[in-house]
Amino acid sequence: MKFKENLEGVEIIKKSSDNNLFSPKTLNLLSELDKTREDFWNVDNGSANFLSILIKINNSKNALEIGTSNGYSTIWLANALKTTGGKLTTIEFWDNRLNVAIENFKKAGVENIIESRLGQAVMILEEMAYSKNPPLFDFVFIDANKSEYIKYFKLIHPMLKKGGIIAADNILSHYKKVEPYVIEITNHKEYQSQLIPMDTGIMVSYKL
Ligand SMILES: C[S@@+](CC[C@H](N)C(=O)[O-])C[C@H]1O[C@@H](n2cnc3c(N)ncnc32)[C@H](O)[C@@H]1O
Repeated sequence: MKFKENLEGVEIIKKSSDNNLFSPKTLNLLSELDKTREDFWNVDNGSANFLSILIKINNSKNALEIGTSNGYSTIWLANALKTTGGKLTTIEFWDNRLNVAIENFKKAGVENIIESRLGQAVMILEEMAYSKNPPLFDFVFIDANKSEYIKYFKLIHPMLKKGGIIAADNILSHYKKVEPYVIEITNHKEYQSQLIPMDTGIMVSYKL
C-alpha cells in the first residue's frame, strides 16, 4: 500500500451491533456464552457475524455444521436461516456438549429449525452420502477435528449444490493440520476459494 493513514489511537469499527439481529433474551444468552468461549472453542463474535452474512447473501436454505460444541455458532447460523426460511443440521460427537447446545437452542428459540446429530462426523456424513436420498446442502460450516477436514470435504462435495458455500474455520490457527484440505480445495476446478484472515482464519469456498 503506497499511502497509509496514521491510525495510531484510532479504534477501527469492524461490525454493526447485534442488537438488530436477536431478541434481548438471546443477546443475553450469547453474551453469557461469550464468557466461556475459550472453554468451548467457539468462533468469535465477528466470525459468527460473517458466517451469518454469508448465509443471507447466498440465501442458503439447507445448511450443515460439523462441530456444534455448546451451540454458539449454531445459534448464529440458525438465526440467519430464520431470515432465509432455511434449516440446519449440526453434528457433535461429545454428548455432554450436544446436550448443553440443545438447551441453548431452546433458550434462543431456534430448536425447531435445527436437527442435532450425535456421533462421529465422518460416520454421519458417510451415512448421509450413501443413503438412498442424500441431502443437498447449500452452506456447510466445518469446525470439528482439524485432521479430518479433508475427509469431510470428500464426503460433502457430492452433497453440495452448485452455488453452495463451504466455510472452514481454523485455517490460520491449525494450518499444518488442515493443509491437506487447503491444498485440495484451492486446486479443485469446481471451487473458488479465499482465506479470510479474521480471528482463527476462515477459508470460504464457492462451488462453481
Ligand atoms: C471448535 S469446536 C466447535 C465450536 C462451534 N462451531 C462454535 O463455534 O460454537 C469443535 C467441536 O467439534 C467436536 N468434534 C471434534 N471432532 C469431532 C468428530 N470427529 N465428530 C464430531 N464432532 C467432533 C468437538 O467435540 C467440539 O465440540
